[in-house]
Amino acid sequence: MDKILVTGGLGFIGSHTVVELQNEGYEVVIIDDLSNSSEKVLDGITTITGKTPLFEKLDLKDKGGVEAFFAKHNDIKGVIHFAASKAVGESVQEPLLYYENNIGTLVYILKELKKLPSAAFIFSSSCTVYGQADELPITENAPVKQAESPYGNTKQIGEEIIKDTCRVVPNLKAIALRYFNPVGAHETAEIGELPIGVPQNLVPFITQTAIGLREELSVFGDDYPTPDGTCIRDYIHVVDLAKAHVVALGRLLQGKNKSNFETFNLGTGTGSSVLEVVKSFEKVSDEKLNYKIVGRREGDIISAYADTNKANDELGWKTTLTLDDAMRSAWKWEQKVRG
Ligand code: WQD
Repeated sequence: MDKILVTGGLGFIGSHTVVELQNEGYEVVIIDDLSNSSEKVLDGITTITGKTPLFEKLDLKDKGGVEAFFAKHNDIKGVIHFAASKAVGESVQEPLLYYENNIGTLVYILKELKKLPSAAFIFSSSCTVYGQADELPITENAPVKQAESPYGNTKQIGEEIIKDTCRVVPNLKAIALRYFNPVGAHETAEIGELPIGVPQNLVPFITQTAIGLREELSVFGDDYPTPDGTCIRDYIHVVDLAKAHVVALGRLLQGKNKSNFETFNLGTGTGSSVLEVVKSFEKVSDEKLNYKIVGRREGDIISAYADTNKANDELGWKTTLTLDDAMRSAWKWEQKVRG
């Protein structure tokens, strides 16, 4: 079966995608610089699938290292590119770190793919490219707006770089997958989200509060124009998200793509408010969550959830796991890691 490179394959979404690629029979090689992950994740993947993926520790900013890797693995048929810095707030403070790490490394990889007879490229993008969309649910035709952060800008620029490259490199076909909010963990609790330091995202902060690592959850504002006043997001289970990557890769390898650069929104199509997420967690965990309402967080948009028709119809993919499934798996994972 085809050999696939997964960059950032020891990260949250990357590791879940490696599991689904192996389940599909692909040979997987992982590049990860371990800056935001741990080699122990390899054990979790192996426990789930019974197969240990190839792994090379490499910082993709090392151009020579990237060239040497592709010289060695010149039988790679596809790349799923997760490796990037992804903290919105940090990107505002450290823009050059984000442009170097998220853009520079993408260029190095694309330059190597140009040399291969053919290559399928899946790019980890984000609904953040839409900013606060004018219309909900959000379709792939919604206008890409001025990014609210350098992180979001690197996703927009990344898509443009790939589109421009595919236009002139006939053997390169690409899909950008625009994630909504990935949450949850593998049902075995062998892999999951491992935020370093204080979690920025809602769900790991909820589970760390429930396990006693954090004092209480701060809910960033309940004065938004939404039914319960808190922001709405489309929380997609990470396993559903991982499976979408395998489907998208197959679309390119089987030549079913309609153009050399396509984009797909990956969400459930349902919006959930912060308080609805809290209530879902309390229901599945039977824990009373300690939280308080505080002021709004700078840069938060009011509401975002996906129009899933294009992914449903053209990829033949849709989510099967619910918000409760995500909260249940996130809690099981937290208890395993901290218990
Ligand atoms: C969700 C909601 C917060 C924490 C970000 C990135 C996006 C993607 C996913 C990388 C918001 C509220 C949160 C807390 C809270 N990342 N919240 N208390 O901001 O929608 O998306 O992560 O690709 O690009 O922008 O996710 O989980 O940070 O916040 O009330 O302690 O939860 O205000 O309404 P977000 P999030």
